[in-house]
Amino acid sequence: MTAAIVIEDVSKRYRLYHERNQTLKGALMRRGRSRYDEFWALRDVSIEIEEGSTFGLIGENGSGKSTLLKCIARILRPDAGRIAVAGKLSALLELGAGFHQELTGRENVYLNGAILGLSKKDIDSRFDEIIDFAGLEQFVDSPVKNYSSGMYVRLGFSVAINVEPDILLIDEILAVGDAEFQYKCERKFEDLKKAGKTIVIVSHAIESIRQFCDRVALLDHGRVRSLGPANDVASDYLEGVHLKSREESRSGSGEIQIQRVVLLDEAGNPITRARTGQPVTFRLVFSANQPIEQPCFGFSLRRIDGVGVTAPNTHDYGVIPDKVEGHGHVDYRVPSLPLLAGTYDVAVSIEDQARTLQYDGRVVALRFDVEWQGGPSEWLGVVTFGGSWDIVDNEPPS
Ligand SMILES: Nc1ncnc2c1ncn2[C@@H]1O[C@H](COP(=O)(O)OP(=O)(O)OP(=O)(O)O)[C@@H](O)[C@H]1O
Ligand SMILES: [Mg+2]
Repeated sequence: MTAAIVIEDVSKRYRLYHERNQTLKGALMRRGRSRYDEFWALRDVSIEIEEGSTFGLIGENGSGKSTLLKCIARILRPDAGRIAVAGKLSALLELGAGFHQELTGRENVYLNGAILGLSKKDIDSRFDEIIDFAGLEQFVDSPVKNYSSGMYVRLGFSVAINVEPDILLIDEILAVGDAEFQYKCERKFEDLKKAGKTIVIVSHAIESIRQFCDRVALLDHGRVRSLGPANDVASDYLEGVHLKSREESRSGSGEIQIQRVVLLDEAGNPITRARTGQPVTFRLVFSANQPIEQPCFGFSLRRIDGVGVTAPNTHDYGVIPDKVEGHGHVDYRVPSLPLLAGTYDVAVSIEDQARTLQYDGRVVALRFDVEWQGGPSEWLGVVTFGGSWDIVDNEPPS
């Protein structure tokens, strides 16, 4: 393997100052010394990023992702360790960074291009493409101080990719762009990947990271907690989030309780992996220590990144038992699972008939994976309609 970026035992320290020099007296009393704490934003980070690969950095807010990108881009200097970068690097790190407020979009493109090492002639030849990709034809001669956040990102990204870098660093600011622009960026990433560029992305969109990246590092309080294939590391991260929310996830008054929730295959066996198109049953096992009149049972399904899928409940289907008592279960049968590949969470709740009182509820009662198996592949979104196509030609005009 040829490494594009080698990060070796990197640590970065920030100083947190407790007080500004608010008053002259205060400053004099401290005799010019300022008081600060040291804080390690990165600690002994070692990562090798292979040339031509797409690498993801994930972790909670404040875990050190942006700090690490800035160290790679040489905007910050690590306090310990080394970083070697092989190739021309282009970075999109902070909203509006590198833009001059008073200058127009056009002037900023030239300024940025020059900083990234392009000649005026180079920029001339790419200018139209940059503006076109950014979709900013109308605003090219307005000062960027009047741009919206999304417009900044469009221009920044467009410049960053059009200088033909070998290595592209992108902090999560792309999320500021609208849906159309994000889609365009996704396509662009695919092109850059095919062209053998090395890409490092920071994002909280775990499903995108899983989809785009070859390898991922999970940072936790400035340390690498997990490093490896995208799927494994994304799962580690989500497992952590899952455990946290599971601890806080139970609610309700408790007269009837959810014992467990399971996903069953067509033979009635519990599964944690399902196929697109498979017949499955969601089963909620309950226990009521007193008769409960007309309870309402509900499931709510989300993809792991929070995208809602559906939330059926017995009440809305007109399925209203007079009463339930003791142990029992509720089955929700799905003849053909329409979900595309991904990981999904099921929340459940049992409420009273008026749906004003919750007896029991769990935010993460069940997690399962869906795998795509065979059939034509659909890659966008959450579901397949399972449709079929017809194309008819040579018809008389109607
Ligand atoms: N200039 C700075 N001075 C002091 N502390 C800083 C500075 N920049 C970042 N930090 C601190 O370093 C830690 C790591 O910050 P960083 O911005 O790298 O996190 P992040 O993983 O990018 O988080 P987010 O997901 O919120 O973008 C945080 O605790 C942050 O408060
Ligand atoms: Mg950040």
